[in-house]
Amino acid sequence: MATPILKLGCSLIFTISLLASSSAQSDTYIIHMDRSAMPKAFSDHHSWFLATISSISDTAESTFTKTSKHIYTYTSSVHGFSASLTQSELEALKKSPGYISSTRDRQMKVHTTHTSEFLGLSPSSGAWPTANYGEDIIIGGMAPRARIAMYKAIWRYGAYESDVLAAIDQAIQDGVDILSLSLTVAVEDDFFLGDDSIAVASFAAMEKGVFVAASAGNDGPNYFTLVNGAPWMLTIGAGTIDRKLEGVLTLGNGSQFSFPTVYPGNYSLSHKPLVFMDGCGNVNELKKVRNKIVVCKDNLTFSNQIENAASARVSGAVFISNYSSPSEFYTRSSFPAVYIGLQDGQRVIDYIKESKDPRGTVEFRKTITGTKPAPRVDDYSGRGPFASCRNVLKPDLLAPGTLVLASWSPVSSVAEVRSHSLFSKFNLLSGTSMATPHVAGVAALIKKAHPDWSPAAIRSALMTTAYSLDNTLSPIKDAAANDLPATPY
Ligand SMILES: *[C@@H]1O[C@H](CO)[C@@H](O)[C@H](O)[C@H]1NC(C)=O
Ligand SMILES: *[C@@H]1O[C@H](CO)[C@@H](O)[C@H](O)[C@H]1NC(C)=O
Ligand SMILES: *[C@@H]1O[C@H](CO)[C@@H](O)[C@H](O)[C@H]1NC(C)=O
Ligand SMILES: *[C@@H]1O[C@H](CO)[C@@H](O)[C@H](O)[C@H]1NC(C)=O
Repeated sequence: MATPILKLGCSLIFTISLLASSSAQSDTYIIHMDRSAMPKAFSDHHSWFLATISSISDTAESTFTKTSKHIYTYTSSVHGFSASLTQSELEALKKSPGYISSTRDRQMKVHTTHTSEFLGLSPSSGAWPTANYGEDIIIGGMAPRARIAMYKAIWRYGAYESDVLAAIDQAIQDGVDILSLSLTVAVEDDFFLGDDSIAVASFAAMEKGVFVAASAGNDGPNYFTLVNGAPWMLTIGAGTIDRKLEGVLTLGNGSQFSFPTVYPGNYSLSHKPLVFMDGCGNVNELKKVRNKIVVCKDNLTFSNQIENAASARVSGAVFISNYSSPSEFYTRSSFPAVYIGLQDGQRVIDYIKESKDPRGTVEFRKTITGTKPAPRVDDYSGRGPFASCRNVLKPDLLAPGTLVLASWSPVSSVAEVRSHSLFSKFNLLSGTSMATPHVAGVAALIKKAHPDWSPAAIRSALMTTAYSLDNTLSPIKDAAANDLPATPY
């Protein structure tokens, strides 16, 4: 059964996908109910839903089973509830008055950090205390006097739709002006907009005048990697900013090479011997020269060399490769690591070969601002079209997303240095989730200046006043397309 609720340019259809199962195992479902069907006997929807659940319960009726099956009541984002039900209970529920449709609870994808995805960390692995996550993180990094409410939607066991919906529901009830969302339902091939709880809940928010900013996701750069593309929300991609975090390698003969790094350690290497170790393939050989700065040239795989240098605990290493800009996964190194290209690398190798006592100095933690060109669309930023709704051009805007400095939970480590965890109140992260709160902040300023503007009017104001040129006054370029001008996707 499929109940069409609304048809726009895109089909917004609630579909019900159920797995046939005869076991008594329970799953969590989000159940949409027709609120006008509530019998007069009930004073509110919550008590009606509880009564409905107990009427279909497999187990003997008791307050305990009622409350343990019921998870959340939703009144503002969607109308209905979530509950843990067996297959037969679900079948019985479908015959209950007011039932419209149901979807099985799904895990969501958090866009909070790009690096976490690179490193393969899972929000449920316990590696990060849950304190870091709020589904609504607006850093005051645009509207410093705005009031910020954070709703905890992600718990130790992962990010689930039923929890996120509860957070959005509460936020709408609390009368927020703007919602900033940096997560999504994992998109599959035949994915309908009506099946996307963020799209449905943000539609309800929009109807109530709440502006919704949502991240385009970090699965770029291919087409159709964009998420959160419903036409009624503002979908935000991530770009670089005019700031570089660099280190400098100085050879004994005075030549200098700068390189990208976010290595957070304090050490600078001063006048250390340099030694060329070819591909750095042999950990035992590296251990023999661990007090020097080893120089490795990528001829096989880059990451193996880095692993070898780290396990040999070398004081520092120079990695020569043809990567023009090594990813943050590499530059957030746990030991002093220098990344340079083939041409500069050849100069370093020549210097080592020519010099009787080759030495190098490496300094970290240099911040350079005003770099050009900026912004650029970054590789990872999700690209349109939005698979569920191809006729609407998305993303809508680009905002700073790469290596954004933001406040951070002091109990969660920001980096590893020599296998010691490093803690800070701030962290540098990349992702469309870092871009989204920037736009939410600007939207807050507009809302304050024009309280009567609808979410669509605010979205229009943001889009029609956005720059399309970078700081060299040429069209904004795409880092994933050899710096050709970015397309509307
Ligand atoms: C670096 O130095 C600062 C100030 O001396 C100190 O607070 C910090 O813990 C040091 N960091 C590391 C990684 O050693
Ligand atoms: C890679 O470097 C090693 C020495 O470290 C060398 O023996 C090998 O031939 C090189 N491989 C290629 C493909 O150049
Ligand atoms: C780097 O070199 C490898 C091996 O020659 C090649 O496969 C790869 O495409 C090159 N990458 C870039 C970015 O030039
Ligand atoms: C240092 O040595 C390298 C390798 O011979 C050379 O390319 C470079 O120009 C030298 N730098 C200076 C400042 O002489």
